[in-house]
Parts: sequence; structure tokens; C-alpha cells
Amino acid sequence: MPHSSQAEIGVYGLGTMGGALALNLAEKGIQVAVADYDPARVPEFLAQSGSLSDHLMGYQDLPTLLSGLSRPRKLLMMIPSGAPVDAAIAALRPHLDPGDMIIDGGNSDFNDTRRRSADLAKSGLHFVGMGVSGGEDGARHGPSMMVGGTEETWAALRPQLETIAARFDDDPCVAHVGPDGAGHFVKTVHNGIEYADMQMLAELYGLMRDGSGWPASQISAVFESWQEGPLSSFLVEITAHVLKVKDAQSGQPLVDLILDQAGQKGTGRWTAIEALKLGQSATTIEAAVAARSWSAGKALRNAASSLPGPAGGIAMPDAATLAMGFEAARILSHAQGFRVLSAASEEFAWDLDFARIAEIWRAGCIIRSALLDDLAAAFHAGPPMGELMLAPAMQNRLAATVPALRITVLAALSAGLPVPSLSAALGFYDSLRQSRGNTNLTQAQRDFFGAHGFRRIDRDGEFHGSWTV
Ligand code: 6PG
Repeated sequence: MPHSSQAEIGVYGLGTMGGALALNLAEKGIQVAVADYDPARVPEFLAQSGSLSDHLMGYQDLPTLLSGLSRPRKLLMMIPSGAPVDAAIAALRPHLDPGDMIIDGGNSDFNDTRRRSADLAKSGLHFVGMGVSGGEDGARHGPSMMVGGTEETWAALRPQLETIAARFDDDPCVAHVGPDGAGHFVKTVHNGIEYADMQMLAELYGLMRDGSGWPASQISAVFESWQEGPLSSFLVEITAHVLKVKDAQSGQPLVDLILDQAGQKGTGRWTAIEALKLGQSATTIEAAVAARSWSAGKALRNAASSLPGPAGGIAMPDAATLAMGFEAARILSHAQGFRVLSAASEEFAWDLDFARIAEIWRAGCIIRSALLDDLAAAFHAGPPMGELMLAPAMQNRLAATVPALRITVLAALSAGLPVPSLSAALGFYDSLRQSRGNTNLTQAQRDFFGAHGFRRIDRDGEFHGSWTV
């Protein structure tokens, strides 16, 4: 397919996200060259693009797509993460010239992104790992984008990315968050927070359904009412929405007919794994990953449903208490996510700007919420020790809402209803709140059986106990 002019940017991969991003770029008047692993997808995509096809140029494969790009070439790959990205790089590499940029907009493992960046840099090629959030609608009308790579690639890509990004007030939700794998790491943590947020909503839904016996329509109304206050978020909004939808055939709430086995593609798990590797722990996120994994074992859960639970339970909290409990847990899960970012920033010398990250999550992405604007303000003010929990505004909110989280978790535990993520938030809060913790005993045990040594509170130095009684 010969074309007279050269396109500003290429999009390889015309699936849901790639297609939507190509249309978003085209709508902003940007000339886009497009191709797909399946060449038959290209004419189909162009036919579906209506008048936007004026800005789209279709190509049969990667080498011809490259030939349609102005230099230095910018090629956005929107393909499945893992082996397909390495395969596409291998196919592209002989046709690339120094200065060309490959942008990986998929949910890639940041370790792969670091490897690919370092490898391509040896040939003077740029590899940009970019987290894109917002699902199909976000990609089409304004995603939030977390960009890695160098200052040079950011300067080259910034005009187009700012044009297609979501906006909070007038601020585009895109930033160069740091070099090499930083963009994909920040996206991974975004997804971890997404997992925790979704899990906590599922736990609260479960309390209302199984503890209070409320129907989906009533639960939907509770979530809908939360949209008016500090809990306002995209995930609360869609939760209220999906709980309202009826199955066309049976007329029952569709959610009641959905099998309780959650899928996961890996980003939540990566957040938990990377947190542990960094000597951190994002327990609210780990709990969410675990809940999805355990949910997959439906046959086991059916068998285990005969195991005894508690005989009774204290009264279920009212909706206002659940709301306040959720507010506390959300602040704590976000605090955990930012602690993981902070640990990675130090480990990889990324110098992440947490206020800016919170800002670009205020619109376009899946975890967008009123809270993120408050967190951005808290980071701008510089929280003590860099900890969100210690920011004066967050301390006040936690003081007001943690009592409700305690009541919520207590009621759930007493009734035998699972709240792994909500209770993890509380466990985190109470652990950090204890200036004198209990790991002095752990140290004593370690020294007893392994002579690992310990430090004392009354003297400097490293000690061993003589453990005879
Ligand atoms: C987003 C989403 C998106 C997607 C993930 C998570 O930010 O737009 O996070 O990337 O939802 O793939 O999917 P899983 O729940 O399947 O892990």
C-alpha cells in the first residue's frame, strides 16, 4: 500500500487498545501508520475507522510500516507482553536506524523493559516502556500514560502523548516518570492498587450480600451514594453500575449469575513479588492477588464449604460505617503502593516524583479517584519521612475513619466472612502504629536457634543471649 506522505507515528497491534489509541491519535489530526500481526486486520480496521481513516495509513507488516514513518521513527507496539514483544523487536531490528524509537505500550514486566532498553541502546536504538491505563474507552478518548525511557525520547514523544492523554482540569495525565523500566513499573503498581481497590469493593459487597442479606440493587444504591463524597472513583462508579444490570434472559441481576472465579494476567502478582524483592510488602495487594488465586479453586471451595464457621456474629455495620472503613483501607492500600514505588525509586535510582504520579492517576486510568487529588496535594506538601500515612491531612482522615474499619473487620471476622484485603490494611496500620513492636521476640528466637544475634535497647552493639534458664 504506497502512500505519498510519511506518518508521524506508527501503531503495531490493532487489538482493542492499539486500535483505540490509533483512532485517538488520528482524531487529533496526527498521521498514523498502522499494521497488525494479522495483515487481514488492517483493511478491516481502516474500514471501521470512518472519516478518521484519512489520517490512517495501513501497512502489511512491520518492515513496510517502518518505511511509512518519518525519521527518527516512532513505533508504538500494542501487543501482548512477553515473547511477542521480543519477537517483534527481533523482526524490527534489522530495519531500524540509530535514533529510532520503539514504544512498548503493553503491560510488560519492567524487568523485561530494562533488559530490552539496555540491549537496544547498544545499537543506538531507543526502547520506551510506557504504561497505558484506562481500558478501551481511555485509550480511545484519553488514557493515563506512565512513560519510561530517556529525556530525549520523552521530548520527542511528549507532544503527541500530551495531545491524546486524559485531562484533569487542563493537566494532561501523562508524565515521563523515569528512565528504562520506570514507566512499566509505575503501571504495575497502578494495577496492584487497582487489584486492592477491586478486592476491597468485592469484600464490602460480600458483607452486604452475605452478612446483611441485601440484594444487588440495594448494594448498588449504597455504592452509588459513595460517588458523592470522598470515595468517588471510577471503580466505585462501575461497581454501582454492574450491580444494577439485569440478565436479559432470566431478569436476575447479572452479577448473581457470574461464576465466582477471578482471572488475572499478572500485574497484581508482579507488584506483590517486586515489593517483596525490594524488602517491602504491599499486603493489601497481596491479599487481593491471593483472593483471586483462591477463587480459582472452585472445586476445593465447594468441598471446604462444610468446614465449620462461627456460631453467630456481631451486627453487620451500616452502609455509612462501611464507607468510612473503606476510606481508611483505601488510604492505606495507596500508601502501600507508594511505598513500593519509593523502594524501587531508591533501588534503581529513578528519582520518581510521587506527586506527579498521583496527578497523572487523577483521570483516564482505572484507579482514578478523588483520593488521588488529595494524595497529590499531600505529596506536594512533603509528608514527614515521605510517608503518606504521616501527612497531616491523611493522619486526620485515618483518625476519623480507622474506627469504622475496625468495626467492619471485626464484624466480618465474627461472622466468618472473608475480608483479607481490608484486614491487611488494618494490620499494616496497627503494625506501623506500634512504636514498640513484638519482633524483639523474633530476634530472641533467631538468636536461640541460629545465633543470629540481636541489638539491645539499652546498649550499643551486636549481642548474643546465653539462653540457659
Ligand atoms: C488499566 C488496566 C488494564 C487491565 C489489566 C489488568 O490500567 O487499564 O489495569 O491494564 O485491566 O490487564 O488485568 P487483570 O485483572 O486481568 O490482571
